[in-house]
Amino acid sequence: MSGARIDLVATPHGRCVLVSAADDLAPVESVLHPDEVAAALTMSPVRRRNFILGRHALHLALRDPDLAHGPVLTDERGAPILPVGRTGSISHKGDVAAAIGGPAERGFLGIDIERAAAPRLDIAPRILTERERRSLPANAEERGRAVTLRFAVKEAIYKAVHPVLRRYVGFTEVELDAAGDTFTVSSALPLVIDVAWTEHQGLWLATARAIPR
Ligand SMILES: CC(C)(COP(=O)(O)OP(=O)(O)OC[C@H]1O[C@@H](n2cnc3c(N)ncnc32)[C@H](O)[C@@H]1OP(=O)(O)O)[C@@H](O)C(=O)NCCC(=O)NCCS
Repeated sequence: MSGARIDLVATPHGRCVLVSAADDLAPVESVLHPDEVAAALTMSPVRRRNFILGRHALHLALRDPDLAHGPVLTDERGAPILPVGRTGSISHKGDVAAAIGGPAERGFLGIDIERAAAPRLDIAPRILTERERRSLPANAEERGRAVTLRFAVKEAIYKAVHPVLRRYVGFTEVELDAAGDTFTVSSALPLVIDVAWTEHQGLWLATARAIPR
């Protein structure tokens, strides 16, 4: 038992696991693989906390609490190295880490969580195309929340496409069109991408699935 608080959120891409813990991370660390604990020891305190909570969330998302698949270490671009045949992704915000994972045969998954509030700086020009910016709500508060949501969705996409592309993907390489409660995704990337989002306890929780064309 890690002693952490665990929330499960159902999404079209499968179950997301959200983990938060009190200050003492030792019980959470005790359920990680020794190689993950060793990796965490090299990190700054904030980074270490994020890493530990994220790894715990990912093992739960992969339904591998006993670590039969071994450690999930980090590749040269910062992405988690998943066991063969699995996909999975991690995000953190404040005291919460979120993860999604499962078999890779139905595509690669990405996740992102962000505060469901306007960003401190106007990031819209950096992360949205002109066409996307034109479709934002006029009201300033609603516009800000809509920008943060699109940011979360695009970061989830970035994590989902990483196992195939293994390169930086710019925010304007992908366009989102609002379609009811979700977005349709267009891009020149060699992947079919679908996304989903929900609001959970003040956070945007965005997930993406990428399937090679
Ligand atoms: C990598 C990036 C998406 C991480 O997002 P973030 O909001 O800074 O941080 P999060 O807490 O949400 O996510 C961090 C986790 O992302 C994962 N991650 C990092 N780099 C990754 C990559 N290249 N591919 C997939 N996952 C990655 C890691 O699991 C990391 O957690 P960990 O170090 O504990 O394992 C972001 O820093 C970035 O570089 N974005 C620019 C590119 C982009 O998003 N383009 C949009 C294209 S549509």
